[in-house]
Amino acid sequence: MDMLSRCFTASLLLVAIASTAFAQQPASRESLLTGRTASQPVLDAIEVYLDKKEKKIVGGKPAKAGQFPWQVALLVARVPDAYDAHFCGGSVHTERWIVTAAHCVHDTEAADIAIVAGTHRLNAEAPERIAVSRILVHEDYDDETYDNDIALLELEKPLALGDRIRVIPLLGTGDEPATLKPGALLTVSGWGRTQQDGEGTSALQYVDIPFVERKTCNRALAYDGAVTERMICAGVAAGGKDSCQGDSGGPLAANAGSQPRLAGVVSWGEGCAQANKVGVYTRVSQFTGWVSTCTTDTARCKAKHR
Ligand code: ARG
Repeated sequence: MDMLSRCFTASLLLVAIASTAFAQQPASRESLLTGRTASQPVLDAIEVYLDKKEKKIVGGKPAKAGQFPWQVALLVARVPDAYDAHFCGGSVHTERWIVTAAHCVHDTEAADIAIVAGTHRLNAEAPERIAVSRILVHEDYDDETYDNDIALLELEKPLALGDRIRVIPLLGTGDEPATLKPGALLTVSGWGRTQQDGEGTSALQYVDIPFVERKTCNRALAYDGAVTERMICAGVAAGGKDSCQGDSGGPLAANAGSQPRLAGVVSWGEGCAQANKVGVYTRVSQFTGWVSTCTTDTARCKAKHR
């Protein structure tokens, strides 16, 4: 699909060429991966790192420490600096499990990725990385349409939950009518690009954007029918505020009552913050059963394991 191919523009060939210039760094993409394959966001992050290019949320503001305690960064395990290593976002589901997007981690080995939680800055002082022991990708994830774009990461050791690291409960189907109303504000956060063709940011950004009905989002001028029942839209028709490359997998939070709930997972969009092309998010309410089965009775969970 056209818009999806535009989502990622990386050329893997560049990696091999760039590697010769940095003698002190691992020389190749291969040396940074244990597996032979990895998702496109992982490959993109490695390319940026090897290329020493600068690498967000568009139209947002920097978050304060502790403002989004459920936000985590997914990192390429073998890339040293947390900012360079960052390739996607995620949300804390329990002390052992992270919710993210399937397109961030499908085809990727658990050994190749790690997470960092409890920080809003991705720099040298970023807290300790936690290794991922298992990746569960939804079995109906479709790499072309991005349908069912959800995955779970099991952590090698539990997170220290507290003020800085907190779980965000999933928004249930029953909460949707009150929460996902046209115009109701949702909050998306991440370390992705702050302009469509811009750079990433080491300071976590966030922006409040209104929910957009599927009917509106599927208009010919918008996504012309590409938004399925497993997706929700949020953004402003005029453009200017949106999630962007690098924010994928991260949280779209709703305030159900005053309790934050995970309503969406950053999934796709045509460009970033363009007029009529709002962000499309995985509709979390459709996966509460899948998440609870996979996290409590993993053997019964229908998922692609890595
Ligand atoms: N596929 C992009 C990523 O991997 C999704 C970014 C969301 N795009 C948007 N316009 N809201 O980062």
